[in-house]
Amino acid sequence: MLEVRNLNAGYGFLQVLWDVSLKINEGEFIALVGPNGAGKSTTLKTIAGLVTPQSGDIIFKGEAITGTPANLTSRMGISFVSEQLNLFTNMSIYENLLLGAYIIEDKQEQLDTIEFVFNLFPRLKARQNQLAGTLSGGERKMLAIARGIMSKPSLLMVDEPSLGLAPKLTLDVFDALETLRQGGMTILLVEQNVNTTLHITDRGYVLEQGQIILEGPSKELLENDHVKKAFLGI
Ligand SMILES: Nc1ncnc2c1ncn2[C@@H]1O[C@H](COP(=O)(O)OP(=O)(O)O)[C@@H](O)[C@H]1O
Ligand SMILES: [Mg+2]
Repeated sequence: MLEVRNLNAGYGFLQVLWDVSLKINEGEFIALVGPNGAGKSTTLKTIAGLVTPQSGDIIFKGEAITGTPANLTSRMGISFVSEQLNLFTNMSIYENLLLGAYIIEDKQEQLDTIEFVFNLFPRLKARQNQLAGTLSGGERKMLAIARGIMSKPSLLMVDEPSLGLAPKLTLDVFDALETLRQGGMTILLVEQNVNTTLHITDRGYVLEQGQIILEGPSKELLENDHVKKAFLGI
């Protein structure tokens, strides 16, 4: 579904990603983990088309999308839920969700998708008329993810959903991602919560200082000495 080959990217003269390569097959739940500042968000932003790469290839569903701007990658089926969330704070939950479905033209399909995300996040359903700006941190995260799937993406990329969340809410968010994955969605999850993330994903990549230093089945990464030392504190 997605193949990233030898991606080099950064901001102005600052190079952040160095020959990053990764591959995601359809239906896989993939983890991208690494310390703060490693370049995880930059990787997602470059795939989404928010950062223009210096070199390398990004192939999505067999098509080169390297350097394709974000408004087009989202139409092609890539949904990026950033840490910033980018919610419309003066609009209700319901209105934010509808805006997430702008790609879908069929009204009934939009309503069905809203029903689907409400089942996934019952908390949002109960508050559907509440303004996004008045939601708690956890509810905002849920809304951002919910809005991210309103376009029925083929690839969902989520950046650090657990950041700043209480453990219970983190579990709720991870549960929702697992449900989505069971429904066949392909997910690329960026997280600093390495332990939980490697327990729920199929495969993972470890990014350090802009380079992929390890990759493999998540189960194996959990057993890896470097991963244990650097991220699991064991
Ligand atoms: N908009 C930006 N302009 C300049 N430098 C940036 C920008 N965003 C991130 N960086 C730098 O790029 C590096 C990687 O950041 P980031 O991709 O956010 O890492 P991570 O998500 O793994 O914490 C950091 O050194 C960060 O300071
Ligand atoms: Mg980040």
